[in-house]
Amino acid sequence: MPAQQKALLLPKKQGDWVVGTTEVPKPGPGQLLVKIEATALNPVDWKIQVYGLFIENFPAILGSDAAGTVEEVGEGVTGFAPGDKVVFQGFFVNPQATFQQYALSNADVTAKIPGNITVDQASTLPLGLATAALGLFDAGSAGLSPAPWEAGGRGKFSGKPFVVFGGAASVGQYAIQLAKLAGFSPIIATASLKNTPLLESLGATHVLDRNLSPDALLAEVNKITAGAPVEVVYDAVSIPETQTPAFDVLAPGGTLVLVLPDQIDAAKKAAAPEKKVVGVFGNVNAPDMRKTGQSLYAKLPALLESGEIKPNPVDLLPDGLAGIPGGLKRMERNEVSAVKLVARPQETP
Ligand SMILES: NC(=O)c1ccc[n+]([C@@H]2O[C@H](COP(=O)([O-])OP(=O)(O)OC[C@H]3O[C@@H](n4cnc5c(N)ncnc54)[C@H](OP(=O)(O)O)[C@@H]3O)[C@@H](O)[C@H]2O)c1
Repeated sequence: MPAQQKALLLPKKQGDWVVGTTEVPKPGPGQLLVKIEATALNPVDWKIQVYGLFIENFPAILGSDAAGTVEEVGEGVTGFAPGDKVVFQGFFVNPQATFQQYALSNADVTAKIPGNITVDQASTLPLGLATAALGLFDAGSAGLSPAPWEAGGRGKFSGKPFVVFGGAASVGQYAIQLAKLAGFSPIIATASLKNTPLLESLGATHVLDRNLSPDALLAEVNKITAGAPVEVVYDAVSIPETQTPAFDVLAPGGTLVLVLPDQIDAAKKAAAPEKKVVGVFGNVNAPDMRKTGQSLYAKLPALLESGEIKPNPVDLLPDGLAGIPGGLKRMERNEVSAVKLVARPQETP
């Protein structure tokens, strides 16, 4: 095991990314040291760099999504051994950040990768899947229960409509798949229409053009649901242009899940107090979310093996960690459609 490793560093608030070195950490009790073979990029990574959000200690290492090989097993860990291929959700506090060659994972929220899924594909799962799962089920925001990966959860919401704004987003793709597992039907997604075949393959029954006017969108949803109340709406985009129609589509008594801060007009909300709007904190490591995260990660290998959960399509970046800044620029410019950008830290020049 090397003492030092390559990492993508953010040297200061709103600074420029630079590939540097940092120490390879030692796993503590309950942890694994994982050699990161693939890490996926998320919008929060560019937002932190551009807007100077969240982080006060520098140099910082970001990145939340990782898959690779277990190198060392911490005290008390059972069920994992060196050489296992695993996927886990990191977070942007070192040594659990993933834009580096080795990181620590919490073993209770780490899953083995089944043979039908590549390491690159597995790296697309953690943050997107957590945000969809924790937005909808159990201890998470909407609190629907039981979750579809738990006993009695399959098909629990059979016949109830589900609407997702941004069905092609990483989070949206996982929300569609979990809604399908939970039995929701119809599953209506907004997206660029070129993404219709992908979204239908994940479980969407109807894909509506993301450029429809709010009135036309509402009319289409009403036509599809034949007036059945839409009790759950997931807005995986959560910009003002999606939050307002998402709120309008929601039935009284229903829940709208937002992935970004609520910007819905206060008067509009006051006029419909029976509509619930909730945020989501998509981190299975968080104390409040940990139990739900453990239950999800315990079932994840089987869900992947059966094809009930499919990773996002992968767009592989060149040059390992050095390729990440270019990928983050593409995200910032809204040039990423229905794929997850993935880097291989071990291939850093
Ligand atoms: N609260 C949390 O814990 C949490 C966690 C994770 C992510 N987030 C936030 O959730 C958002 C989504 O993250 P992500 O990783 O899923 O993003 P992403 O995959 O990078 O999103 C790109 C997709 O967004 C879709 N999109 C953009 N504008 C749209 C619109 N007006 N209508 C419909 N679709 C639209 C595009 O769809 P088309 O290609 O079909 O046009 C594109 O495929 C980000 O803002 C992120 O910061 C929050």
